Amino acid sequence: MKIEQLSLTHFRNIESLNLVFDKDVTVIIGKNGQGKTNVLEAIHYCSTSRSFRVKDDQLCIQFNQELCRIIGVFSVKGNKKQLKVILNQDGKYLFENNKSFSTNKEFIGLVNTVLFSPNDLFLFDGYPKVRRKFIDSELSKLFPEYVEALFSYNKLLKERNNYLKQIQIDKDYISVLDDQMIEYSITVLNYRYRFIDYLNRNVAKLFQDLVEEESWKINLSLESDIPRGDNLRETLKLMYNQSLNKDILFKSTQIGIHKDDLVTYINDQELINVASQGQKRMMIIAIKLCLIHYIKENINEFPILLLDDVFSEIDEVKRKRFIEFLPKTCQTIVTTTDISHIKLWSQERYSLFTVSNGNVVKE
Ligand SMILES: Nc1ncnc2c1ncn2[C@@H]1O[C@H](COP(=O)(O)OP(=O)(O)OP(=O)(O)O)[C@@H](O)[C@H]1O
Ligand SMILES: [Mg+2]
Repeated sequence: MKIEQLSLTHFRNIESLNLVFDKDVTVIIGKNGQGKTNVLEAIHYCSTSRSFRVKDDQLCIQFNQELCRIIGVFSVKGNKKQLKVILNQDGKYLFENNKSFSTNKEFIGLVNTVLFSPNDLFLFDGYPKVRRKFIDSELSKLFPEYVEALFSYNKLLKERNNYLKQIQIDKDYISVLDDQMIEYSITVLNYRYRFIDYLNRNVAKLFQDLVEEESWKINLSLESDIPRGDNLRETLKLMYNQSLNKDILFKSTQIGIHKDDLVTYINDQELINVASQGQKRMMIIAIKLCLIHYIKENINEFPILLLDDVFSEIDEVKRKRFIEFLPKTCQTIVTTTDISHIKLWSQERYSLFTVSNGNVVKE
Protein backbone atom coordinates (compact mmCIF):
# COMPACT_ATOMS: atom_id res chain seq x y z
CA MET A 1 0.00 0.00 0.00
CA LYS A 2 1.05 3.57 -0.51
CA ILE A 3 0.34 7.00 0.79
CA GLU A 4 -0.21 9.35 -2.15
CA GLN A 5 -1.02 12.62 -0.39
CA LEU A 6 -0.97 14.08 3.08
CA SER A 7 -2.75 17.29 4.07
CA LEU A 8 -2.37 18.77 7.52
CA THR A 9 -4.03 21.73 9.17
CA HIS A 10 -2.82 22.96 12.56
CA PHE A 11 -1.07 19.71 13.41
CA ARG A 12 1.66 20.39 16.01
CA ASN A 13 3.98 23.08 14.57
CA ILE A 14 2.64 22.56 11.04
CA GLU A 15 0.14 25.28 10.19
CA SER A 16 -0.71 23.86 6.80
CA LEU A 17 0.80 21.18 4.58
CA ASN A 18 0.00 19.53 1.27
CA LEU A 19 2.45 16.82 0.46
CA VAL A 20 2.41 14.61 -2.64
CA PHE A 21 4.42 11.39 -2.46
CA ASP A 22 5.66 10.77 -5.98
CA LYS A 23 8.44 8.26 -5.38
CA ASP A 24 8.81 5.08 -3.33
CA VAL A 25 11.27 6.77 -1.01
CA THR A 26 10.57 10.15 0.57
CA VAL A 27 13.30 11.85 2.57
CA ILE A 28 12.37 14.56 5.03
CA ILE A 29 15.39 16.51 6.15
CA GLY A 30 15.69 19.30 8.68
CA LYS A 31 17.43 20.48 11.81
CA ASN A 32 16.27 19.34 15.26
CA GLY A 33 12.85 20.49 16.37
CA GLN A 34 11.61 21.60 12.93
CA GLY A 35 8.71 19.15 12.46
CA LYS A 36 10.12 16.01 10.78
CA THR A 37 8.71 13.55 13.31
CA ASN A 38 5.42 15.48 13.29
CA VAL A 39 4.90 14.47 9.64
CA LEU A 40 5.43 10.78 10.47
CA GLU A 41 3.23 11.09 13.56
CA ALA A 42 0.40 12.39 11.36
CA ILE A 43 0.72 9.47 8.92
CA HIS A 44 0.79 7.08 11.87
CA TYR A 45 -2.50 8.58 13.06
CA CYS A 46 -4.15 7.38 9.86
CA SER A 47 -2.99 3.83 10.55
CA THR A 48 -3.62 3.52 14.28
CA SER A 49 -5.88 6.46 15.20
CA ARG A 50 -3.31 7.58 17.75
CA SER A 51 0.04 9.24 18.25
CA PHE A 52 3.14 7.15 18.86
CA ARG A 53 4.45 9.84 21.20
CA VAL A 54 1.63 11.03 23.43
CA LYS A 55 -1.50 9.57 24.94
CA ASP A 56 -3.37 12.83 24.96
CA ASP A 57 -4.51 13.59 21.39
CA GLN A 58 -5.10 17.25 22.19
CA LEU A 59 -1.34 17.79 22.51
CA CYS A 60 -1.17 17.42 18.73
CA ILE A 61 -3.42 20.41 18.11
CA GLN A 62 -1.31 23.43 17.26
CA PHE A 63 -0.90 25.79 20.21
CA ASN A 64 -3.74 28.36 20.37
CA GLN A 65 -5.86 26.50 17.81
CA GLU A 66 -9.22 24.82 18.34
CA LEU A 67 -8.87 21.93 15.97
CA CYS A 68 -6.43 19.99 13.84
CA ARG A 69 -7.05 17.96 10.71
CA ILE A 70 -5.10 15.12 9.10
CA ILE A 71 -6.14 13.87 5.67
CA GLY A 72 -4.28 11.03 4.00
CA VAL A 73 -5.00 9.67 0.56
CA PHE A 74 -3.87 6.06 0.30
CA SER A 75 -3.81 3.39 -2.32
CA VAL A 76 -4.67 0.00 -0.84
CA LYS A 77 -4.63 -2.97 -3.22
CA GLY A 78 -5.21 -0.57 -6.07
CA ASN A 79 -8.16 1.18 -4.39
CA LYS A 80 -7.95 4.78 -3.32
CA LYS A 81 -9.09 5.62 0.17
CA GLN A 82 -9.16 8.89 2.00
CA LEU A 83 -8.68 8.71 5.75
CA LYS A 84 -9.37 11.71 7.91
CA VAL A 85 -8.64 12.39 11.58
CA ILE A 86 -9.97 15.49 13.29
CA LEU A 87 -8.94 16.39 16.81
CA ASN A 88 -10.53 19.08 18.90
CA GLN A 89 -10.84 19.74 22.63
CA ASP A 90 -13.90 17.45 22.85
CA GLY A 91 -12.31 14.44 21.24
CA LYS A 92 -11.37 12.65 18.07
CA TYR A 93 -13.34 12.08 14.88
CA LEU A 94 -12.37 9.40 12.38
CA PHE A 95 -13.51 9.06 8.77
CA GLU A 96 -12.91 6.81 5.79
CA ASN A 97 -14.08 8.42 2.54
CA ASN A 98 -16.21 10.75 4.70
CA LYS A 99 -17.93 7.81 6.45
CA SER A 100 -17.52 8.38 10.19
CA PHE A 101 -16.64 5.76 12.81
CA SER A 102 -18.06 5.71 16.30
CA THR A 103 -15.11 3.71 17.73
CA ASN A 104 -11.50 3.50 16.67
CA LYS A 105 -11.68 -0.31 16.52
CA GLU A 106 -12.83 -0.35 12.90
CA PHE A 107 -10.51 2.44 11.84
CA ILE A 108 -7.30 0.81 13.11
CA GLY A 109 -5.51 -1.03 10.32
CA LEU A 110 -7.39 0.42 7.35
CA VAL A 111 -3.86 1.23 6.30
CA ASN A 112 -0.74 -0.37 7.70
CA THR A 113 2.46 1.35 8.72
CA VAL A 114 5.56 0.06 10.44
CA LEU A 115 7.43 2.65 12.44
CA PHE A 116 11.13 2.54 13.28
CA SER A 117 11.87 5.08 15.96
CA PRO A 118 14.67 5.87 18.42
CA ASN A 119 12.06 5.25 21.15
CA ASP A 120 11.87 1.60 20.13
CA LEU A 121 14.68 0.87 22.59
CA PHE A 122 12.03 1.05 25.30
CA LEU A 123 10.89 -2.28 23.92
CA PHE A 124 13.73 -3.90 25.82
CA ASP A 125 14.31 -1.51 28.69
CA GLY A 126 10.71 -0.73 29.59
CA TYR A 127 8.02 -2.56 31.48
CA PRO A 128 6.17 -5.65 30.11
CA LYS A 129 3.29 -3.29 29.33
CA VAL A 130 5.41 -1.64 26.61
CA ARG A 131 6.08 -4.97 24.91
CA ARG A 132 2.45 -6.07 25.22
CA LYS A 133 1.45 -2.79 23.67
CA PHE A 134 3.80 -3.47 20.77
CA ILE A 135 2.29 -6.91 20.11
CA ASP A 136 -1.26 -5.65 20.62
CA SER A 137 -0.83 -2.67 18.40
CA GLU A 138 0.72 -4.68 15.54
CA LEU A 139 -1.79 -7.51 15.71
CA SER A 140 -4.70 -5.08 16.05
CA LYS A 141 -3.72 -3.42 12.79
CA LEU A 142 -3.76 -6.80 11.07
CA PHE A 143 -6.63 -8.79 12.54
CA PRO A 144 -10.08 -7.32 13.35
CA GLU A 145 -10.82 -10.48 15.35
CA TYR A 146 -7.83 -9.71 17.58
CA VAL A 147 -8.92 -6.12 18.31
CA GLU A 148 -12.41 -7.33 19.04
CA ALA A 149 -11.25 -10.06 21.46
CA LEU A 150 -8.76 -7.79 23.20
CA PHE A 151 -11.28 -4.99 23.52
CA SER A 152 -13.90 -7.34 25.01
CA TYR A 153 -11.36 -8.95 27.33
CA ASN A 154 -10.23 -5.58 28.67
CA LYS A 155 -13.81 -4.51 29.24
CA LEU A 156 -14.54 -7.68 31.21
CA LEU A 157 -11.27 -7.35 33.13
CA LYS A 158 -12.27 -3.87 34.23
CA GLU A 159 -15.70 -5.15 35.26
CA ARG A 160 -14.14 -8.06 37.19
CA ASN A 161 -11.65 -5.78 38.97
CA ASN A 162 -14.40 -3.36 39.94
CA TYR A 163 -16.50 -6.23 41.21
CA LEU A 164 -13.59 -7.59 43.28
CA LYS A 165 -13.63 -4.30 45.20
CA GLN A 166 -17.15 -5.03 46.53
CA ILE A 167 -17.56 -6.29 50.08
CA GLN A 168 -19.79 -9.22 49.12
CA ILE A 169 -18.46 -11.40 46.30
CA ASP A 170 -20.77 -13.76 44.46
CA LYS A 171 -18.44 -16.44 43.13
CA ASP A 172 -21.02 -17.60 40.60
CA TYR A 173 -21.05 -14.15 39.04
CA ILE A 174 -17.23 -14.17 38.90
CA SER A 175 -17.39 -17.58 37.24
CA VAL A 176 -19.67 -16.22 34.51
CA LEU A 177 -17.21 -13.39 33.85
CA ASP A 178 -14.33 -15.88 33.84
CA ASP A 179 -15.99 -18.06 31.20
CA GLN A 180 -16.32 -15.09 28.86
CA MET A 181 -12.80 -13.86 29.56
CA ILE A 182 -11.42 -17.34 28.88
CA GLU A 183 -12.93 -17.41 25.39
CA TYR A 184 -11.37 -14.04 24.50
CA SER A 185 -8.07 -15.07 26.12
CA ILE A 186 -7.86 -18.11 23.87
CA THR A 187 -8.32 -15.99 20.74
CA VAL A 188 -5.74 -13.44 21.87
CA LEU A 189 -3.22 -16.08 22.93
CA ASN A 190 -3.50 -17.97 19.66
CA TYR A 191 -2.72 -14.83 17.67
CA ARG A 192 0.14 -13.89 20.01
CA TYR A 193 1.71 -17.36 19.73
CA ARG A 194 1.38 -17.39 15.96
CA PHE A 195 3.17 -14.03 15.75
CA ILE A 196 5.96 -14.99 18.19
CA ASP A 197 6.47 -18.29 16.36
CA TYR A 198 6.84 -16.40 13.10
CA LEU A 199 9.38 -14.04 14.68
CA ASN A 200 11.30 -16.99 16.06
CA ARG A 201 11.47 -18.68 12.68
CA ASN A 202 12.85 -15.56 10.99
CA VAL A 203 14.42 -13.09 13.35
CA ALA A 204 17.62 -14.96 14.20
CA LYS A 205 18.81 -15.14 10.60
CA LEU A 206 18.04 -11.46 9.99
CA PHE A 207 19.76 -10.39 13.18
CA GLN A 208 22.82 -12.50 12.42
CA ASP A 209 23.05 -11.02 8.91
CA LEU A 210 22.68 -7.50 10.26
CA VAL A 211 25.35 -7.80 12.94
CA GLU A 212 27.39 -10.51 11.22
CA GLU A 213 27.45 -12.63 14.32
CA GLU A 214 26.65 -16.15 13.32
CA SER A 215 27.09 -18.03 16.52
CA TRP A 216 24.36 -16.32 18.49
CA LYS A 217 21.28 -18.24 19.39
CA ILE A 218 18.25 -15.95 19.45
CA ASN A 219 14.96 -16.80 21.02
CA LEU A 220 11.81 -14.77 21.60
CA SER A 221 9.39 -16.01 24.14
CA LEU A 222 5.88 -15.06 25.18
CA GLU A 223 6.13 -15.28 28.96
CA SER A 224 2.61 -15.86 30.14
CA ASP A 225 0.90 -17.05 33.31
CA ILE A 226 -0.88 -19.51 31.11
CA PRO A 227 1.18 -22.54 30.10
CA ARG A 228 1.19 -23.25 26.40
CA GLY A 229 -0.51 -26.44 25.37
CA ASP A 230 -3.79 -28.12 24.57
CA ASN A 231 -6.87 -27.74 26.73
CA LEU A 232 -6.36 -24.00 27.18
CA ARG A 233 -9.99 -23.64 28.22
CA GLU A 234 -9.71 -26.16 31.08
CA THR A 235 -6.30 -24.85 32.14
CA LEU A 236 -7.57 -21.27 32.29
CA LYS A 237 -10.69 -22.23 34.22
CA LEU A 238 -8.61 -24.07 36.77
CA MET A 239 -6.16 -21.18 37.07
CA TYR A 240 -8.89 -18.60 37.54
CA ASN A 241 -10.50 -20.80 40.23
CA GLN A 242 -7.21 -21.31 42.02
CA SER A 243 -6.40 -17.62 41.93
CA LEU A 244 -9.78 -16.37 43.12
CA ASN A 245 -8.98 -16.09 46.83
CA LYS A 246 -5.84 -14.14 46.01
CA ASP A 247 -7.84 -11.94 43.58
CA ILE A 248 -10.34 -11.19 46.35
CA LEU A 249 -7.52 -10.38 48.75
CA PHE A 250 -5.77 -8.03 46.29
CA LYS A 251 -9.09 -6.80 44.83
CA SER A 252 -7.80 -7.30 41.31
CA THR A 253 -7.26 -10.09 38.79
CA GLN A 254 -3.84 -11.56 39.42
CA ILE A 255 -3.47 -13.84 36.41
CA GLY A 256 -4.29 -13.64 32.73
CA ILE A 257 -3.21 -12.43 29.33
CA HIS A 258 -3.03 -8.86 30.62
CA LYS A 259 0.24 -9.88 32.31
CA ASP A 260 1.94 -11.43 29.25
CA ASP A 261 5.43 -10.31 28.35
CA LEU A 262 7.68 -10.70 25.33
CA VAL A 263 11.22 -11.62 26.34
CA THR A 264 14.18 -11.84 23.97
CA TYR A 265 17.10 -14.15 24.72
CA ILE A 266 20.60 -14.24 23.27
CA ASN A 267 22.35 -17.53 24.00
CA ASP A 268 19.80 -18.23 26.72
CA GLN A 269 20.50 -14.96 28.51
CA GLU A 270 17.97 -12.16 28.56
CA LEU A 271 19.00 -9.72 25.87
CA ILE A 272 18.50 -6.75 28.16
CA ASN A 273 21.30 -8.03 30.40
CA VAL A 274 23.88 -8.90 27.78
CA ALA A 275 23.40 -6.85 24.62
CA SER A 276 25.05 -3.52 23.86
CA GLN A 277 22.97 -0.50 22.84
CA GLY A 278 23.95 -1.08 19.21
CA GLN A 279 22.99 -4.74 19.37
CA LYS A 280 19.65 -3.87 20.95
CA ARG A 281 19.04 -1.43 18.11
CA MET A 282 19.84 -4.07 15.52
CA MET A 283 17.58 -6.57 17.26
CA ILE A 284 14.73 -4.11 17.09
CA ILE A 285 15.45 -3.51 13.42
CA ALA A 286 15.46 -7.28 12.84
CA ILE A 287 12.13 -7.68 14.66
CA LYS A 288 10.57 -4.83 12.65
CA LEU A 289 11.91 -6.22 9.37
CA CYS A 290 10.28 -9.53 10.27
CA LEU A 291 7.08 -7.69 11.06
CA ILE A 292 7.07 -6.17 7.57
CA HIS A 293 7.13 -9.65 6.05
CA TYR A 294 4.55 -10.94 8.52
CA ILE A 295 2.18 -8.19 7.40
CA LYS A 296 2.84 -9.01 3.75
CA GLU A 297 2.09 -12.70 4.40
CA ASN A 298 -1.15 -11.92 6.16
CA ILE A 299 -2.68 -9.14 4.11
CA ASN A 300 -0.86 -9.74 0.88
CA GLU A 301 0.51 -6.22 0.71
CA PHE A 302 3.55 -4.49 2.15
CA PRO A 303 2.96 -1.79 4.79
CA ILE A 304 4.26 1.78 4.54
CA LEU A 305 7.54 2.19 6.41
CA LEU A 306 8.15 5.20 8.62
CA LEU A 307 11.82 5.55 9.54
CA ASP A 308 12.24 8.26 12.13
CA ASP A 309 15.87 9.29 12.44
CA VAL A 310 17.09 5.70 12.71
CA PHE A 311 20.30 6.12 10.76
CA SER A 312 22.03 8.50 13.14
CA GLU A 313 22.35 5.82 15.76
CA ILE A 314 23.93 3.02 13.79
CA ASP A 315 27.29 2.86 12.06
CA GLU A 316 27.69 3.09 8.31
CA VAL A 317 28.12 -0.64 7.69
CA LYS A 318 24.89 -1.44 9.57
CA ARG A 319 23.10 1.44 7.89
CA LYS A 320 24.01 -0.08 4.53
CA ARG A 321 22.83 -3.54 5.54
CA PHE A 322 19.61 -2.20 6.99
CA ILE A 323 18.80 -0.43 3.72
CA GLU A 324 19.65 -3.58 1.76
CA PHE A 325 17.19 -5.56 3.86
CA LEU A 326 14.29 -3.17 3.35
CA PRO A 327 11.91 -4.65 0.77
CA LYS A 328 12.41 -2.66 -2.45
CA THR A 329 8.71 -2.31 -3.21
CA CYS A 330 7.82 -0.92 0.22
CA GLN A 331 7.06 2.77 0.29
CA THR A 332 9.47 4.31 2.77
CA ILE A 333 9.38 7.70 4.42
CA VAL A 334 12.58 8.65 6.18
CA THR A 335 13.49 11.55 8.40
CA THR A 336 17.05 12.63 8.95
CA THR A 337 19.14 15.59 10.04
CA ASP A 338 22.06 14.54 7.86
CA ILE A 339 21.93 14.02 4.09
CA SER A 340 25.04 11.83 4.20
CA HIS A 341 23.03 9.18 6.07
CA ILE A 342 20.89 8.53 3.05
CA LYS A 343 23.58 8.62 0.40
CA LEU A 344 23.16 4.85 0.04
CA TRP A 345 19.96 5.53 -1.88
CA SER A 346 20.59 6.78 -5.38
CA GLN A 347 19.23 10.29 -5.84
CA GLU A 348 16.73 9.23 -8.52
CA ARG A 349 15.02 6.91 -6.04
CA TYR A 350 13.82 9.52 -3.60
CA SER A 351 12.03 12.84 -3.35
CA LEU A 352 13.57 15.26 -0.91
CA PHE A 353 11.67 17.66 1.33
CA THR A 354 13.18 20.18 3.72
CA VAL A 355 11.39 21.07 6.95
CA SER A 356 12.00 24.32 8.71
CA ASN A 357 9.81 25.64 11.51
CA GLY A 358 6.86 23.51 10.40
CA ASN A 359 7.13 24.48 6.71
CA VAL A 360 7.78 21.60 4.35
CA VAL A 361 9.31 22.48 0.99
CA LYS A 362 10.13 20.17 -1.91
CA GLU A 363 13.74 20.41 -3.10
N1 LIG B 1 0.91 21.30 19.77
C1 LIG B 1 1.94 21.95 19.22
N2 LIG B 1 1.78 23.16 18.65
C2 LIG B 1 2.82 23.80 18.08
N3 LIG B 1 4.06 23.31 18.05
C3 LIG B 1 4.28 22.11 18.61
C4 LIG B 1 3.24 21.36 19.22
N4 LIG B 1 3.77 20.20 19.68
C5 LIG B 1 5.06 20.23 19.36
N5 LIG B 1 5.39 21.36 18.72
C6 LIG B 1 6.69 21.76 18.20
O1 LIG B 1 7.08 20.85 17.19
C7 LIG B 1 8.51 20.81 17.15
C8 LIG B 1 8.99 19.38 17.24
O2 LIG B 1 8.74 18.78 16.06
P1 LIG B 1 9.37 17.36 15.74
O3 LIG B 1 9.37 16.51 16.93
O4 LIG B 1 8.69 16.89 14.53
O5 LIG B 1 10.87 17.80 15.42
P2 LIG B 1 11.96 17.01 14.59
O6 LIG B 1 12.23 17.79 13.35
O7 LIG B 1 11.60 15.61 14.45
O8 LIG B 1 13.21 17.17 15.55
P3 LIG B 1 14.35 16.13 16.01
O9 LIG B 1 15.36 16.12 14.88
O10 LIG B 1 14.92 16.77 17.22
O11 LIG B 1 13.71 14.83 16.26
C9 LIG B 1 9.02 21.55 18.33
O12 LIG B 1 9.50 22.78 17.89
C10 LIG B 1 7.81 21.70 19.21
O13 LIG B 1 7.84 22.86 19.99
MG1 LIG C 1 12.25 13.89 15.39
